[in-house]
Amino acid sequence: MPDLPHEAPYADGKIITEVADGVGVITFNNPDKRNAMSLEMWEGFGEALTALRDDDSVRVVIMRGAGGKAFVSGADISQFEKNRHNAAASEEYGKRSAAQRALLADYPKPTIACIQGFCLGGGMQVAMLADIRIAAHDSQFGIPAAKLGIAYGFDGLRHLVSLVGPSWARLLMYTGMRIDSTEALRIGLVERVIPDDQLWGETMAIAATISQNAPLAIKAAKITIAEVLKDESARDMTAIKAIGTACMDSADFREGRQAFMDKRKPQFQGK
Ligand code: COA
Repeated sequence: MPDLPHEAPYADGKIITEVADGVGVITFNNPDKRNAMSLEMWEGFGEALTALRDDDSVRVVIMRGAGGKAFVSGADISQFEKNRHNAAASEEYGKRSAAQRALLADYPKPTIACIQGFCLGGGMQVAMLADIRIAAHDSQFGIPAAKLGIAYGFDGLRHLVSLVGPSWARLLMYTGMRIDSTEALRIGLVERVIPDDQLWGETMAIAATISQNAPLAIKAAKITIAEVLKDESARDMTAIKAIGTACMDSADFREGRQAFMDKRKPQFQGK
């Protein structure tokens, strides 16, 4: 996968951000351990998400793994003896990594997981929190919690059930089995499967399309879909109304209409 300019390192370079042409990229960069996530990497991931969130030039964020063999192979198991050896330690560990995942869950910009190789455990959590999952043919997916004796938390399972349904969620969780990308596509875990050598180009093309579309219209879709997925009693219909009003009163909507009439490409500003 080619490098992009404006590189910034987090967690001693084990998390890297790059920005080009409205697209932000976060790379999990611990290839010797198949990009297993240490607590320091979770924290660096949170800092990277925050930096790209606050960068006005970034309109969409791609997450990927370095090395071609893994997206993320899960939490770094070598830290478990010290940080996750019982319920109390596990709760503290969970809080530290969950805080970073919460940033991704509530992320205001569209996110894409670009998956090549192993996507396991905590890697699945990250991928399932992304808005869209695009995978290479040679990818493998699984949640080996039952093989390690770990309880996979509410949020991870909620996303799994909403993507693949309760029966596939049970099969995956009870067995800890790994499935390939063809099966992942069939059960709705990923949206697209692409030949390995075209994965990055195809993912960037989708990101480029998103980055050139009207940001407020995308935000309206993102907010509304998130509310659709909530229980009716928890839904914030006011937020949907507010973004709908902002969108329909925006300069970008005027630009979109005008560009169509002028038969030219619109230039959206996000306001
Ligand atoms: N935590 C810590 N280290 C990990 C890791 C993880 N989640 N996943 C891989 N590694 C390390 C291995 O220990 C190995 O280290 P070593 O070179 O010092 O021996 C290195 O990464 C390469 O892994 P290896 O198993 O030799 O590569 P592989 O390509 O044959 O298999 C995996 C890759 C990801 C399938 C395999 O490493 C694996 O099953 N990892 C654990 C996955 C898991 O249980 N994740 C859930 C954690 S909650």
